[in-house]
Amino acid sequence: MNNADIIKATEGYIKDVLQDHESSHDWWHIERVWKNAQRIGEAERADMLIVELAALLHDVADWKFHDGDLTAGPRKVREFLSSHNIAPKIVDDVASAVETVSFKGVGVAVEPKTLEGKVVQDADRLDAIGAIGIARAFAYGGHANRAMHDPTEKIAYHDSFEEYKNSRGTTINHFHEKLLLLKDLMHTNTAKQIAEGRHQFMLDFLEEFHAEWESKS
Ligand code: NI
Repeated sequence: MNNADIIKATEGYIKDVLQDHESSHDWWHIERVWKNAQRIGEAERADMLIVELAALLHDVADWKFHDGDLTAGPRKVREFLSSHNIAPKIVDDVASAVETVSFKGVGVAVEPKTLEGKVVQDADRLDAIGAIGIARAFAYGGHANRAMHDPTEKIAYHDSFEEYKNSRGTTINHFHEKLLLLKDLMHTNTAKQIAEGRHQFMLDFLEEFHAEWESKS
């Protein structure tokens, strides 16, 4: 198979896997991350086959939907790519990028080992901030039956993956435990630039949200 065929097959596979998935991590999330990854990867001169495959496969088995199992994703990536006779080096590089992509709590370092891993992590994080990030946070919060906001609740941060995984905080707290931190965690200059505007949009949203909550707007 040539590269375009491999990407086409991967796109078909992931659409199938994520059919009927809840809306914050559905196929449209993958498609947006894929576009972000193409934009960042080309600007950063990354290996685009690895970038595109890792972007398409990055949520094939997200721990949030697999009982916190961090190994399920990379395992499925290997199974799928190996079954299509992809060179072992490419399989390794894509699995490595997928392994490091997801956010596991403020105090938990997940530094991607390769440029391609950094590009895909940045692409995924850009989809977690800005207008789309706000929409996804509330969609996921609704799916997980979380309160939108509780003014009596203190802002909570998490130093371990266990704590982060088990947190039952509100969606507004999710802005503080994750979304507002992402701008400074971007690796590539391209993503840093894109993140600025999206970050400011969230700050403006939160200000308006709290003003309306107190009936001051
Ligand atoms: Ni994702």
